[in-house]
Amino acid sequence: MDVALVYNVKKEESVDASSVAQPSSQNQQTTHTHIQLAPSADAFAEWDTIETIHAVRDALSLRHTVSLIEADDNAFDTLKTDRPDIVFNIAEGRFGASREAQIPAMLEMLNIPYTGSDPLTLSVCLDKSRAKEILSYYNVANPKFAVISSLSELQSLIFPVPAMVKPLFEGSSKGIFNSSLVHSQEELVKQVKSVVEEYGQPALIEEFLPGREFTVAMLGNGAELKVLPIVEIKFDSLPSGVNPIYSYEAKWIWDQSSNPLEIFECPAKLDDNLKTAIENLCRNTYNVLRCRDWSRIDVRLDKNGRPNIIEINPLPGILPKIEDNSCFPKAARMSGLNYSQMLNTVLDAGLKRYHLL
Ligand SMILES: Nc1ncnc2c1ncn2[C@@H]1O[C@H](COP(=O)(O)OP(=O)(O)OP(=O)(O)O)[C@@H](O)[C@H]1O
Ligand SMILES: [Mg+2]
Repeated sequence: MDVALVYNVKKEESVDASSVAQPSSQNQQTTHTHIQLAPSADAFAEWDTIETIHAVRDALSLRHTVSLIEADDNAFDTLKTDRPDIVFNIAEGRFGASREAQIPAMLEMLNIPYTGSDPLTLSVCLDKSRAKEILSYYNVANPKFAVISSLSELQSLIFPVPAMVKPLFEGSSKGIFNSSLVHSQEELVKQVKSVVEEYGQPALIEEFLPGREFTVAMLGNGAELKVLPIVEIKFDSLPSGVNPIYSYEAKWIWDQSSNPLEIFECPAKLDDNLKTAIENLCRNTYNVLRCRDWSRIDVRLDKNGRPNIIEINPLPGILPKIEDNSCFPKAARMSGLNYSQMLNTVLDAGLKRYHLL
């Protein structure tokens, strides 16, 4: 098969995509550990490093002929000319709340098969409030929330604390800092202002779920959908005194591949009832949001110990090195799939949907 890998590469590296990349964590070292990050400090946190892109290419090349297409202004023309048999899509997109839909929408227009979720699901999942509205309709548990689009709405806002304040449509913990967990109306207002002003988008305020946190890798479709071994995020590995949340600092600053945090436990230690409850919750979520081929779903327990959905990542992070603490590859490894087998399973799931396998 001719497979085109379509990607966005982290900006500081896109100048010379053929060079050997530095580990992803090294790109983050200049950021600060508090809220006052320079606006661009986490601007490309969700894009992939050239190291990841090359690792995915190498993995798929074991079975296919693989070309690389950057998801830039030329992508549509290149796809139209090249017409690969299938696209392996890891592109996060360029601008706006529907950016993850851009490449899949082009591929649908060109009638080229691709892996992963369709434009609608990608857009819905990136806008956390839209995803929560659908989940709520289907009675899938998720924390209570409010959306604040402009600072004028703050005057009439009453929301119980403790609460989490997050940008409405970001990922990779962009805009989620230790200070995003607020304990007073004053802190709440400050955080909402900082999200609206610094990220130029609405703020999502959520009931804070105080319990254990898990992330769940999902692989396949329909009757073949697999829930991979559940990963627990262990907050006792964070520096003492910080909030028990998987913040930008926890993901990109306190955890370095040269000095990794022991933050994940996989498989999570769970009794059978809780394990089944989490698996069922994630299967329901995957199905009602019409996810395809793969996704990673974040779950947290509420004050009664009931699992709730925090968010859905239909384009999960896939750092290739074991020491880079990346949840989807970790769960896959635990299930017996190495990096290459994991990616080829995603590709095969896509090929089967199009009856190409
Ligand atoms: N309602 C909540 N209650 C408790 N903790 C929360 C809540 N919402 C977010 N968090 C904490 O903040 C972290 C980041 O939030 P979230 O997963 O929504 O952000 P993200 O940037 O989309 O993440 P990812 O890197 O997985 O894409 C969560 O892993 C969790 O630790
Ligand atoms: Mg998350």
